[in-house]
Amino acid sequence: MTARILITGAAGVVGTLMRPRLAAENRVLRLLDVAELPAARDGENVELLQASVTDMAAMESAMKDVDAVIHLGGHSLENTWENILRVNIDGTHTVLEAARRQGVRRVILASSNHAVGYVERASGEAGDYLFPRPDTYYGVSKVAVEALGSMYADRYGLDVITIRIGSCFERPKDVRMLSTWLSPDDGARLFEACLSVPAPGFRIVWGVSDNDRRWFSLDEAHALGYESKDNSEVYAAEVLAEHGELDPSSYAAKYVGGAWCGPEFDTAVKEAGR
Ligand SMILES: NC(=O)c1ccc[n+]([C@@H]2O[C@H](COP(=O)([O-])OP(=O)(O)OC[C@H]3O[C@@H](n4cnc5c(N)ncnc54)[C@H](O)[C@@H]3O)[C@@H](O)[C@H]2O)c1
Repeated sequence: MTARILITGAAGVVGTLMRPRLAAENRVLRLLDVAELPAARDGENVELLQASVTDMAAMESAMKDVDAVIHLGGHSLENTWENILRVNIDGTHTVLEAARRQGVRRVILASSNHAVGYVERASGEAGDYLFPRPDTYYGVSKVAVEALGSMYADRYGLDVITIRIGSCFERPKDVRMLSTWLSPDDGARLFEACLSVPAPGFRIVWGVSDNDRRWFSLDEAHALGYESKDNSEVYAAEVLAEHGELDPSSYAAKYVGGAWCGPEFDTAVKEAGR
């Protein structure tokens, strides 16, 4: 049987990194984004859809014959309350509701370290299922994403895994990312574990590589069958030479959410102009 996986936000950073890595025999990737997606390469088993995750009719149609959804689409940075509410919160409700209506049984949701951004680093390794302490409107939306996932799992029996992603990029870009980095290959390993683990129910797991400087627990990700094979330490000398060690009094050193906990990210004050 061919498995069809719908990936929303597939034109973005994570979607682009996962597109070749999640390709497999007997698997169709249905890639959806509001932005234009790069055309299929020769022999690539993909279906391309341009639509918004806020459009229920389009999402119901996108869910047809789908076995699992990886929901990445939305604002991945801080934004106005209106945009965050519409795209990240309402959009995730639309994705889950469309999945329920079309009988899709498994949904993997991209949450973020910013759902627990104000957790202090001094409290030690950040465990799985930490109580929310969002640092921004964006972080609040990820808490709502997790809550929606939990409700759809409990009420309708969907399997929903929410991943609190650290920093998923080709390579760590700064010193904080030496702790929070999820390598693209490890990202693919984690998504594969989420797709294949039997009957997970609702889970919250950290999305991080097994970095020497890791801040986040891997217990629950291991319970899904994920094994990290990468470690940001191979980039440490280069990153430290460029940026120097973290100032211990900086937001980046003090909080899980890093600089997002600081005044630059105070959207409420910015929106009010005072
Ligand atoms: N990359 C990371 O390190 C990281 C860390 C934490 C969480 N995340 C989360 O993972 C997901 C993917 O992150 P990313 O880095 O690829 O972000 P990105 O901004 O590169 O990609 C997001 C994609 O979503 C699309 N999108 C925006 N609004 C949409 C809509 N209404 N309908 C459909 N698509 C829409 C955008 O066009 C874009 O291609 C996001 O949910 C993000 O919040 C990423």
